[in-house]
Amino acid sequence: MRIIRDVSEMQAFGQAHRGVRVGFVPTMGYLHRGHTSLMALTRPRCDQLVVSIYVNPLQFAPTDDLTRYPRDLDGDAEKCAAVGVDVLFIPEGFYPATFRTQVVVSGVTSRWEGAERPGHFEGVTTVVSRLFGVVQPTVACFGEKDYQQLTVLRSMTRDLALPIEVLSGPLVRDTDGLALSSRNVYLTATQRERARSLHRALFAVRDAPAAWNLGQRTAAGRALVDSDRLDYLAIVDADSLEPLPDDAPVTAPARVIVTARYGGVRLLDNVAVAPTPAL
Ligand code: PAJ
Repeated sequence: MRIIRDVSEMQAFGQAHRGVRVGFVPTMGYLHRGHTSLMALTRPRCDQLVVSIYVNPLQFAPTDDLTRYPRDLDGDAEKCAAVGVDVLFIPEGFYPATFRTQVVVSGVTSRWEGAERPGHFEGVTTVVSRLFGVVQPTVACFGEKDYQQLTVLRSMTRDLALPIEVLSGPLVRDTDGLALSSRNVYLTATQRERARSLHRALFAVRDAPAAWNLGQRTAAGRALVDSDRLDYLAIVDADSLEPLPDDAPVTAPARVIVTARYGGVRLLDNVAVAPTPAL
C-alpha cells in the first residue's frame, strides 16, 4: 500500500489512472468496521482503491471537538492494508493559503444536523469537492450511518454533474447494537449503556404496530431514548429528509433519524422504515 501525503502527488496519481476505475472512501480516520465495510464494498468495484484520512477543520465549529478528534494513523494504515487499499492519502496542507471557495447544497442541509451544526455541511461538501478534484475517482462510497451527509453528497454530485458514481454502505453496529463511531471511544461505561437506548428506540419505531400513525411512533421512540439531551428523533422522507406528517401512515420509503448527547459527545443513528402495506 502506498501512502501519499502530497496533494499534487495524489492528483498526479488520479490523472495517471484515468483509464481505470478508481474507487474512493473519504474518512477522518480512527477507523473501525464501519469504515472498512465501505472499503470492502468498493474494492470489487474498482481497480485502484484510494482511502483518505483528513480531519477537515472546515466542518467543525469552534466549539466542536476538532482538536481532540481521536487519531491512530498506524492502526488505520494496518486496517487499510488488510482490506486491500492501494493508496492511503493523508494530505498535508490540504487547503492552499489562497483557498476561497465554498460549496453549498441547499434544502436537504437546512434541518437536523444542518440546524444543529451551522456551517457543518458546507465544510463537508467543500472538502469532498476538493478531494474529488484531487483523487478523480470513478466511484466514491459513503456510509448510511451519516444518512443526511450521504443525501447531501448525492445531491452535490448529481447537481454538479460530477462523473462519479456514489455508492452507499449500510450502517455497521457494534455487538451491543450501538452504531460504530470514532467518537464512541469518549463514552464512559454508563454513557455507553444508556446510548444503547438509541438503536432500541429506532427499532421500536420501525417495528411499531402497523396501525400506529407517525405521531404515535415518534412519541413512543422519544420516550425510549435515555440521554442527556435528545436533539431530535424524527421520521423523515428517505429522499427529501422532510418530516412526515404525524397523522399519516408511512406511504413512501422513510427513515427514522436520531441524535442525542451524552456529556459532550453527540451520537447519530438511523434506520429505514418500509412503507406500511394497505390494511
Ligand atoms: P468519518 O466520520 O470518518 O466517516 C467516513 C465514512 O464512514 C462516512 O461515509 C461515514 O458515513 C462512514 N461511517 C462511519 N461510521 C459508520 C458505520 N458505523 N457504518 C457504516 N458507515 C460508517 O463522514 C466523515 O468522516 C466526513 O464527514 C467526510 C465525509 C470524510 C468528510 O470530511
